[in-house]
Formats: sequence, structure tokens, C-alpha cells
Amino acid sequence: MEIKKIAVLGAGLMGNGIAHVCAQAGYEVKMRDIDQKFVDKGIATIKKNLERGLQKGRITQKEIDEILGRIEGILDLKEAVKDADLVIEAVPEIVSLKIDVWKEVDAAAPDHAILASNTSSISITQMAAATKRPGKFIGMHFFNPVPVMNLVEIIKGQATDEETAKIIVDVSKKLGKETVLVNEAPGFAVNRILVPTLLEAVFAIQEGVATVEDMDTSVRLGLNWPMGPLTLLDFVGLDTALHISDYFVDEFKDSKYRAPTLLRKMVRAGWLGRKSGMGFYDYSGDKPKPNRF
Ligand code: 3HC
Repeated sequence: MEIKKIAVLGAGLMGNGIAHVCAQAGYEVKMRDIDQKFVDKGIATIKKNLERGLQKGRITQKEIDEILGRIEGILDLKEAVKDADLVIEAVPEIVSLKIDVWKEVDAAAPDHAILASNTSSISITQMAAATKRPGKFIGMHFFNPVPVMNLVEIIKGQATDEETAKIIVDVSKKLGKETVLVNEAPGFAVNRILVPTLLEAVFAIQEGVATVEDMDTSVRLGLNWPMGPLTLLDFVGLDTALHISDYFVDEFKDSKYRAPTLLRKMVRAGWLGRKSGMGFYDYSGDKPKPNRF
């Protein structure tokens, strides 16, 4: 089966990045969200990110126009998926919401369509079981910022068939990404390592081991990470990290994955990182200013 048309559900941070790389690779893309303002914002972000390459001479205005011409913003879910060969879902990480979306997609998408979730931790098997095509259901986990990050983590659920995995590896390669094929477990491979590491950085801040900027400098220079762990937490979203931590505790029944009190308190205060303007850094000024804890 050849994938030509892709429906991307969600025009947020991950959704617009996924739509961007799919259209850039030549696929016809429908990017769906529940409100026109989210769709418009998603398209504007794609345009802005494509234009980064314009001054550097890496892309021409004509190519940008062609890529944008392959993306249709849409509100109606059924319309978005009715002729899709592949549906990639990037809606908020709420199990009940994802399951409802998948039931609707399953009823409206063509029988041959593959269903892929960009979930960062939720069970692929659980979502697949809500559809009548668990063999055609798979995890396709992208990383932020999607146009820059080279990996797609592909996750097989209990019933995912080999043919589905093969097609998704091929699509991901066509998107210019490296792939790893992993079996389902909470957090898969990357977040299994990343999230406990980020939580540990917050425990250390809570204990007064280092300031926010010194912790970031330690890891950035001492381990050669592009961003320190607290900058990365602000980038990923503190709510996302907390959500994954709580999910790990539930799934593994192991308190070693518990979130530090400080993280939970910050999320309750609405300090979600860059997206809310406040996190381990304050983003209200010209450049991020580290907070004191
Ligand atoms: N879209 C398109 N291009 C972008 C971009 C975006 N949103 N953001 C940055 N870029 C491009 C820039 O144009 C620049 O291109 P060039 O090198 O060709 O000129 C290049 O990326 C580097 O950007 P900058 O020079 O502005 O800044 P940095 O060198 O600091 O790089 C970064 C920015 C790529 C974000 C880098 O800091 C980085 O790799 N950080 C770590 C990101 C990371 O770990 N992501 C994974 C998060 S975990 C996740 O997503 C999983 C989830 O489940 C939790």
C-alpha cells in the first residue's frame, strides 16, 4: 500500500510540526483541530518555521508556497480522515479523549488506513483496542521541534502487524527521520530515560543542590546536552512531564518515578514553562531569567 494522503489530528506544537514535515516530504496533508483559531495558529507556525530557511538559502519562496499548498486546515474530523491513507493523532494526552477520537476516526477513515498516535506515553494497545483495526494501529512518536529532531520512535502495540510497522518505518524515512522500532512499555524508550532524568534535576533544585542556571550549565557543558534539564523541562512543558510521571507511577506501581512536590506545585500555579511564559525561567523579558526556589 502506498501512503499519499495524511490526516494530522491536532494543530498544536506537535501537530503542526508533523503536518510541516509530511507536507515537506510531498504528502497531501489535512491538519485538523477543533477551533479555527488553533488551525490558523498552526498554519502560521509552519509558515514561520519554513521561512527560517529562506534567508539561509536552503529553501525558496516557491518551495514554501508549494509545501503550504499541500496543507489544508480543517475542522470537521470525518472530512479530515475520510480519504486518508494514514491518520496521525496529536491531540492532548488524555486517555479518554484519545479513545473517543480514535473511535470516531475508525468509523470514518477508509478500511485500508493506518492509525498512528504521537502519544508520548499512553498505551498503544489500549487505544488500538478501541478500534476495529488493532493490526493497523501503531505509535509514531515525534520529538519537539519536529522539523529539527531526527528521530521517530515507532511503537508496536500487542496487535500491531508487521506490515503496518514496515509501512510506518518507510514513511518516517521519507520524512527524513531516523527510526527505532520498540515494543510498548510506559514511556517507550526515550521518555523512559528522559522523564526520570528531568525529575531528578527538579529534586536536586528542591534540595538546594544548585541554582537553576548552574544545574543547566552543569548538564549542558558536563554532558554536552544542547539544553540543560530545566530549560528542556520548560520547553517540553511541566504539565507534560508531570503527566508522564504520574502515568509511570500508575503503570509501574513504583514510587521511584514520583514527581517532586516542586513540579506539582508549579503546574498547579499554571507555571507550565515556555508556553505559559513562566516555569524554571521567566519568559516575560527579552531573555529568559532563571527563577529562585
Ligand atoms: N522549526 C524549524 N526549525 C527550527 C525550529 C523549529 N521549531 N527551532 C529551531 N530550528 C532550527 C533553527 O532554524 C536552526 O537551523 P540551522 O542550524 O539550520 O540554522 C537550528 O534549528 C538550531 O536552532 P537555533 O540556532 O535557534 O538554536 P539551538 O542551536 O539552540 O537549537 C534546538 C535549538 C534544536 C531546540 C536545540 O536546543 C535542541 O536540540 N534542544 C533539545 C530539544 C529536545 O531535547 N527535544 C526533545 C524533547 S522531548 C520530546 O519532544 C518528547 C516528548 O514526548 C516529551
